[in-house]
Amino acid sequence: MMLLRRLLMLYFSITSSALTRNIGVFGLTAFSRIPLSLSTSSAGQNFCEAKMSNSPTTAAEASDETTHTRDLQQQDTKDKDPELGQKSWRSLIEISMARSRKIRGSNYVQLATVDLEAMEPRCRTVVFRGFQKFPADHKNNSGACDDLSTVLKMCTDARSRKVQESPAGEIVWWFAKSSEQYRMRGKLLYVGGQNDGDDPELSKARKELWGNLSDPARESFFDQNVPGAPTTKTTATNDESAPAGGRDASAGKPLPPPDNFLLMLLFPHHVDYLNLKENYRQVDTFSKDESSWSFQQVNA
Ligand SMILES: Cc1cc2nc3c(=O)[nH]c(=O)nc-3n(C[C@H](O)[C@H](O)[C@H](O)COP(=O)(O)O)c2cc1C
Repeated sequence: MMLLRRLLMLYFSITSSALTRNIGVFGLTAFSRIPLSLSTSSAGQNFCEAKMSNSPTTAAEASDETTHTRDLQQQDTKDKDPELGQKSWRSLIEISMARSRKIRGSNYVQLATVDLEAMEPRCRTVVFRGFQKFPADHKNNSGACDDLSTVLKMCTDARSRKVQESPAGEIVWWFAKSSEQYRMRGKLLYVGGQNDGDDPELSKARKELWGNLSDPARESFFDQNVPGAPTTKTTATNDESAPAGGRDASAGKPLPPPDNFLLMLLFPHHVDYLNLKENYRQVDTFSKDESSWSFQQVNA
């Protein structure tokens, strides 16, 4: 009888230790699988689910949990671009432009207008030529932001279609290197020909831009072949009579700008910024009444 009892006790002690070992192994396997699942796109969700099912039970575990959560939050903030959520579009675009400065074509932007007869959008590439500064008391200075001008400067030909289209437009600027998109909408102003005589600041800005153009660009404005008109035998090549480089043949100085050369300004009042790397989006708006910009993060 004694022998039978001992055998039974030995049997129970062996099976219970084997059971303990098995729980340990299963527990470890289940836990070690959590990090593997983090490599999928739903990693965050899997991680949260695992955390919820392993909610802390003791004060020590709870404290560990708090520390761990704080570490994760700090990691989260550390990895985020510190500029986001803190700066206006104008300060952000300054950084974007600096990051892309050396990339050829990084100043090509798309300008959309509306053909008011067809009531259809029209879009084309133009060269962004900087932000136009105005004196503090100038009427066009109202859109300044962070002490920086917000007026986008470009040029175009008075004979091109956009000039007849909507007086408002939107520019899209994609920065491929930093994966950022800016959409800037606002009023368009064309300065040139008959349209700049009464404002010395605008007239000065137009002349400055003319002087800064490359020779081929300047020469193209003297070409008598009307842009967009059907090509004929005589218009198949560039206009030979156009002065080389748009310069005076004897003195070599740039000639005065012809009437069809227009300074084109965009005065944005709404800027939509999207950062694909950070999944971050911000909308900046200009309040005319308060004469100031404000911004808000929105869902990307
Ligand atoms: C890279 C590139 C840069 C251009 N830059 C300008 C520019 O600065 N200004 C401009 O009026 N057109 C520019 N164009 C030509 C326009 O895209 C467009 O063909 C022209 O302005 C006529 O457009 P519209 O008839 O809609 O006015 C550029 C085109 C390309 C491809």
